[in-house]
Amino acid sequence: MSTAFIICSHIEAFVLEWWVVHSSHRSIHTCDPLVYPDQYGSVIKYGQCFFSLNDALAWAYSQWRNCWLIGTASKDFGIAIKRACPEVRRFKQVDLMHTDREVMTKGVELVQWWSMVGVVTHRQPIALYEAIDFEKPFRSMTMGMLPAKVWAILLSIALALRPSSSVTIYDPFVWSGTIPMLALARGYHALGSDIAHVTACKRAMQWRVDRHPSFVDLSWSIWYHDATDAKNKPLARFATHVVTEWWLGPIITSRHHQHRIWEAARDVGDFVRRRVPQIQTNHPDCPLVFCVPWYTALDHDVLDQRWSHILTPLGVVMTSFVYSRPKQSVGRRVVYRYWS
Ligand SMILES: C[S@@+](CC[C@H](N)C(=O)[O-])C[C@H]1O[C@@H](n2cnc3c(N)ncnc32)[C@H](O)[C@@H]1O
Repeated sequence: MSTAFIICSHIEAFVLEWWVVHSSHRSIHTCDPLVYPDQYGSVIKYGQCFFSLNDALAWAYSQWRNCWLIGTASKDFGIAIKRACPEVRRFKQVDLMHTDREVMTKGVELVQWWSMVGVVTHRQPIALYEAIDFEKPFRSMTMGMLPAKVWAILLSIALALRPSSSVTIYDPFVWSGTIPMLALARGYHALGSDIAHVTACKRAMQWRVDRHPSFVDLSWSIWYHDATDAKNKPLARFATHVVTEWWLGPIITSRHHQHRIWEAARDVGDFVRRRVPQIQTNHPDCPLVFCVPWYTALDHDVLDQRWSHILTPLGVVMTSFVYSRPKQSVGRRVVYRYWS
């Protein structure tokens, strides 16, 4: 009898996804990593663990019969495997946090820690993330793109807050359409609006839908709408979940002085104060999952206090998950509001 292991990119994000999913008590069908590991944005690899190399290899062989190529992060472990098992013809070093195409398609990946050996059985949907992030004809690189796998975390949180058999995700700040694309890939209907790039976003969506026959049964729509305007298309009422990167304020770079960044934070704060109640009015049953800017140059304790001061009265919960890349001036903290 073996047990499971999970390797994740952001442990806080995984704990958060796990916690939100399990505290909602109802959503195993959508988000349990033991059943649907690729529904968790934070999961990179997942598999079965064993107490000996022989048990791990015997199990892997019984599953796939292709243990001649082994992928493993440790060179020493790879050499040890080759010595112990003559059937293994080759081993390849594979970064623990990445997916190797050759090993994924032709071999078996083993993970070693202490005296345990894990056999990787599932990986993040890397082709989907790559397609959304890099292959679409219209990209959102200029602001420091939020990668599709982080969006997957936001989607998991939204779904956990309100599990539903018929899901329509709405992003009112849709820009290049990452959220609707990911929503379709998960089998949800998708809506998006924005004050800019609407035609390009529609084209990008159509481009992906044309390549994925499984999207045909799902409905999607992108339209022009200024989120400061309380009146929206009647279609927006079909939304069951609002998931958005939101407006992140004026562009901030490393050249900006602290006082300018605090001003930007204040502007976004004012925006959040006005928009959250508006979304509550327009989508009374929908959970809202969004991001607030996390400026790398500011004192983070003070910034968190400011956000808490703005978000708590609005009923918005600040999560511990901050997405920020090196050299990026504006990271994102994931926050959510649940009402029923
Ligand atoms: C940070 S981007 C969102 C990027 C998006 N998540 C993506 O994947 O490409 C913010 C978007 O908010 C839009 N925006 C700003 N103010 C808006 C408003 N008042 N109403 C609607 N959209 C607005 C901008 O046009 C921009 O596309």
